[in-house]
Amino acid sequence: MKMSYLTGWIKLLSALLFLAGCTAESPTESAITDPHSYSHPQEVRVTHLDLDVVVDFNNEILQGTALLTIEKVQRNARQLYLDVKDMDIHSVLISSDGAEEKVAKFTLGEEDSILGQPLIIDLNSNTRFVSISYSTHPGAEALQFLSEDLTHDKEAKFLLTQSQAINARTWVPIQDSPGIRFTYNATVKVPDGMMAVMSASNVQEVMPGGVYTFEMNQPIPAYLLALAAGRFVFRAVGPRTGIYAEPGVIDDAAWEFEEMEKMMRIAEGLYGTYKWERYDLIVLPPSFPFGGMENPRITFATPTVITGDRSLVALVAHELAHSWSGNLVTNATWNDFWLNEGFTVYFENRIMEELYSPAYARMLAQISYEDLNDEVESFWPNDSLDTRLAIDLTGRNPDDGVTSIAYDKGFFFLKLLEEKVGRAAFDKFINQYFEENAFQTMTTAQFVHYLRENLLNQFPGAEEEIQLSEWIYGTGIPENIPHHPSEKFKAVEDQVAAWIAGISPVKLTTEGWTAHEWQHFIRSLPDSMSVAQMSVLDSVFAFSANRNPEVQCIWYVKSVRNRYAAANPEIKSFLIKVGRRKFLEPIYKELVKTEEGKKFALEVYKEARSHYHPIAVHTMDVILGYQNHEPS
Ligand code: BES
Ligand code: ZN
Repeated sequence: MKMSYLTGWIKLLSALLFLAGCTAESPTESAITDPHSYSHPQEVRVTHLDLDVVVDFNNEILQGTALLTIEKVQRNARQLYLDVKDMDIHSVLISSDGAEEKVAKFTLGEEDSILGQPLIIDLNSNTRFVSISYSTHPGAEALQFLSEDLTHDKEAKFLLTQSQAINARTWVPIQDSPGIRFTYNATVKVPDGMMAVMSASNVQEVMPGGVYTFEMNQPIPAYLLALAAGRFVFRAVGPRTGIYAEPGVIDDAAWEFEEMEKMMRIAEGLYGTYKWERYDLIVLPPSFPFGGMENPRITFATPTVITGDRSLVALVAHELAHSWSGNLVTNATWNDFWLNEGFTVYFENRIMEELYSPAYARMLAQISYEDLNDEVESFWPNDSLDTRLAIDLTGRNPDDGVTSIAYDKGFFFLKLLEEKVGRAAFDKFINQYFEENAFQTMTTAQFVHYLRENLLNQFPGAEEEIQLSEWIYGTGIPENIPHHPSEKFKAVEDQVAAWIAGISPVKLTTEGWTAHEWQHFIRSLPDSMSVAQMSVLDSVFAFSANRNPEVQCIWYVKSVRNRYAAANPEIKSFLIKVGRRKFLEPIYKELVKTEEGKKFALEVYKEARSHYHPIAVHTMDVILGYQNHEPS
């Protein structure tokens, strides 16, 4: 297709901007501004947080104080800028020695619907500590308070937080920017008999009186602050690994994730010592809006990956990999998100290759490839600027950048590098990258500079051959994407072809297929199918009643598209139970395409909405044009 006049200019402009970037010396930290934070880190930085909060399940709020240790970067700075959203600030005290406190003047700036408000605190020349007494609002975006019946055991309430990308500011007044790191201590009071865990040192049993204390001595950015409270137990799966889950889930969870210690050894063998001491995982109720979240020392995970066959444990490899890519070397702003996720998908793939097999890793890579193609297809136009790795999210919600571009285009770019320079050189480079940049942040421009100085300089001509600038600053999918079709999936496609040619589904060769092959089978079916065809496949393979959420999700989208209404009851119960945005989004999006589908979607949503995390509610309200903002 001929490039339009406008896109031609945009491409030229990006190339020029890129060249301008090349001539600069190493891009310095002081040049970094985060469009999603009000903080002024070039003036004052928070270096430590001492959090003391009570979890109030009755009012669905947190209440307490955040005592911040600050460091003046600019000696004459007299104001501290923090990020807050949906929060009541009761009072602010400042101190130079931590003992003598003085009431400080503070103001709240104008509210932005995405960013919240700046909390601006007046400082003295020698202020070192700032103590903020506050309470959160019900409905704060990071917090989900669950009633008993939304948990597995239905015996106690549950609280979970999700801070990434910019929700930490809804439960802690903080400099909420991935480029700013601090250590933290916390004391959290929960109802007696409950357990609480944070992205920090954790105990393994219930504490009398419900008082828990935490310590995180490695500096982390605010998006990695996390808390969960409820009725759960701990079980070790290895010397430094274990699972927290509700008593009724712990056996299945411990079996599903038994390979965690092995994954850690593989990860360390690839990219260096694990720097966070323990690696545990907590299984949350199904309303958790993500599959997994890499909270340091304790991954938060959806229960939907417990399938009884370990088919979705790549998710653990993914969150574990973030202990290096993301948690050690962190995207400086959400515009650099691909550095977190692209590296992590690459690392995840390497762990799975070693844990299972290269053929297994190739299946995962092909799923990535198809996700990426579908994602690019869904953009309008297909060369939208949002299909660039170096995305610009200024003025928008960083959620807009959570697409297959960051994950899968990022992954394939790194894979291309690996193939160009060879594994040995690439692994050496990545080891050095994690080592030299540990506990620091990285912008896309800094990464490109680092790559040139530490890898590409040893391979003359490689930069041009891989088309570095096109990959990072260009749109769409470059034609040299290193896609190697999976042989296992080829066998699946042969069976689809046989079925299309008229062979009965019962005669297809599907023995030994794993969930991935079934996923690929459904994905390879013709776009448009008759209700009769859907029905035959369903009666032979029982897709509607499948218990693997990845299989369910694509089958349900296909059912909606082909008006296969027999799947509706299963779709409804799936949508009511599971709050994982990755699954809700495609199903609701497909439903709203027709009048009839939209009616069904709204009917289900009315029931399901109160089960979802505020983050998922936010996205689904937009998809469904849902106006009713009553508290649910
Ligand atoms: N860090 C992400 C989740 C995230 C990204 C939350 C951006 C909020 C904003 C996490 O590591 C992730 O990528 N989770 C995936 C699973 C993974 C196997 C691809 C998910 O939840 O689907
Ligand atoms: Zn991730």
